[in-house]
Amino acid sequence: SQRYTVTLFPGDGIGPEISKAVQDIFAAAQIPIDWEVYHVSTKSVKPGEELIPKEALDAVKRNGYGLKGPLETPIGKGHKSLNLTLRKALSLYANVRPCVSVPGVKTKYENVNVVTVRENTEGEYSGLEHVVYPGVVEMIKLITREASLRVARYAFEYAKNNQRKMVTAVHKATVMKRADGLFLECCREVAQEYPNIQYEELLIDTCAARLVQNPSRLDVMVMPNLYGDILSDLCAGLIGGLGLTPSGNMGQGCMLAEAVHGTAPDIAGKNMANPTALLLSALMMVREMKLFEKADIVETAVYDVLREGKVRTRDLGGTATCTEYTLAIIDKIQQRISS
Ligand code: IPM
Ligand code: MN
Repeated sequence: SQRYTVTLFPGDGIGPEISKAVQDIFAAAQIPIDWEVYHVSTKSVKPGEELIPKEALDAVKRNGYGLKGPLETPIGKGHKSLNLTLRKALSLYANVRPCVSVPGVKTKYENVNVVTVRENTEGEYSGLEHVVYPGVVEMIKLITREASLRVARYAFEYAKNNQRKMVTAVHKATVMKRADGLFLECCREVAQEYPNIQYEELLIDTCAARLVQNPSRLDVMVMPNLYGDILSDLCAGLIGGLGLTPSGNMGQGCMLAEAVHGTAPDIAGKNMANPTALLLSALMMVREMKLFEKADIVETAVYDVLREGKVRTRDLGGTATCTEYTLAIIDKIQQRISS
C-alpha cells in the first residue's frame, strides 16, 4: 500500500518534544508516513542569510506534505519570520484553522465549531513598508483578484467537502473600499458557483463581537491575511487556546501543517509541553492523504484521553508529562487496533 514522505521541521523550544510525540503516536497508529527531518531555526543563521535551505523547500514540494513545530519569530529588524518565508516560498495560499470544542476542556462556550480560512500570501503581510521620512511610515496592503479568488474558492470547496452550511466573508470594505471591496467582489463571484452554500458578508469588528457572544452563528469564515491572524486566535480562545488548535497551510499540491502556538522556551526540554495542537494539525494532513480511518482512530484516542481527564498536561490543569500524555494516547490506539 502507498507510503507518504513528510518533511518535518521540529522547530525551536518545545518543538522537538512535541514532534517526537506526534511521530510516536503515528507509529503506533501504523500511519504509513516516513519522516524527512530538517532542522531550521532563526538561531542557526545570521541576519541576511538564507533562512531555509532550498533543499528543505524542495523537499516539501516534492513530498507534497510538511509538518512544522513552532519557530521563533524575532520582533523588529533583521530576520524575516521563518513561518512567513515558508508560506511565501511554497505559495501556501490558504491558512485553515478549524476551532472545535474539545471534549472535557471546559471553556465559557459549548459546541464551538468554526473554521477560519485566511488569505496567506498578501494583504497586510506583503512586507511592503518603507520610511517616507523619519516619523512617517507607509505600508501597502496588497489585495489581488487572483489571490482573493483562490482563497475564496478554497473556502467554498472546504465548506462543500466538509458538509458546512455557510461561508462568511469578513471585511472592512466600509473603510478600505477598494482593497476589501475587491476581496468581497471575488468572494461574491465564487459564491455564485455554490448555490447550496449560504453566503454572507460581515464586518470584521461585528464578526469579533458575534464570535464572542454567540459563535454558533458562524461557520466557515474567509478573510484577508491580518484579519485571519487575529480572528483565528480569537476562535482558538473560544475552545481553550492555541495549545489545542490545529492549522494547515494549503497550497497547490502541497500543504504544511503547523502548530500555531509559540516555542514556550520556559518549559522547553522539561517534558511538560502539550503536543495536542501539533498532533491535530498533523491529522489535518492525514485527512488530506485521504487516510480518514487512521485520522479518526488517532482523533478519537486524543479526545478520549482529554475527556477522561486523568492524564493531562499542566497547561490543562493536569500533572502529566508530555511522554505520559503521549503514552496514554498510544494506549487508546492500541486498544482500538487490537479489538
Ligand atoms: C500565525 C502566527 C504568524 C502570523 C507569526 C508567527 C508571523 O501568528 O501563524 O498566526 O502572524 O501569521
Ligand atoms: Mn497568529
